[in-house]
Amino acid sequence: MNRSTSIEAYNKRIKKILITEEEIQNAVKEAAKKIDAIYDGTPILLISILKGAFVFMADVCKNVTVPTEIAFMTAKSYFDDVVSSGNVEITMDIKQNLENYHVVIIEDIVDTGRTLSEIVKILKNRNPRSFHVITLLDKPSRRTVDFSADISLFTIPDYFVIGYGLDCGEYYRNLPYIAEYNQDAE
Ligand code: IMP
Ligand code: MG
Repeated sequence: MNRSTSIEAYNKRIKKILITEEEIQNAVKEAAKKIDAIYDGTPILLISILKGAFVFMADVCKNVTVPTEIAFMTAKSYFDDVVSSGNVEITMDIKQNLENYHVVIIEDIVDTGRTLSEIVKILKNRNPRSFHVITLLDKPSRRTVDFSADISLFTIPDYFVIGYGLDCGEYYRNLPYIAEYNQDAE
């Protein structure tokens, strides 16, 4: 996909809506209730992994009612379109001292699990008061490391998906739903 792609070609790559906006919003509300129940009034720090989780982060933080701080970090594991690389590099770190925080990681998708398991290792070493991981999507069939989130909103088959923060070549993050990407469209 390049920046001179026609709108017809762009739209053709949105193959099929897998999870509607309404389904996502309902599931986010349920997840926020779970966070509220776990922390029961105790302040938390939501940490989102950019860029993919930015939309999910915004919706989660609008729905939780415990006192909430937010922080962002960037990790790189996919370098181009649909090809996965084994490397995980933290390219932008958070500034908070985690010893003072109950941490909730907000992630877009657990695919092979490599990115999140590496990030979790690094953050747990900083001795947070408690630690939970929430992912919007889970693709368990693709897992190469032993990792599971504490809360997972949707389990999906081995499709490459776009929308609601997830991209292909940096496009489609602004779709309000999750769709299957059409890899065959020219
Ligand atoms: P991992 O394979 O679990 O390490 O996933 C790393 C990252 O790859 C995720 O956080 C996403 O940003 C990206 N990713 C994995 N699967 C998809 C997908 O189907 N669509 C878009 N991005 C994906
Ligand atoms: Mg991501």
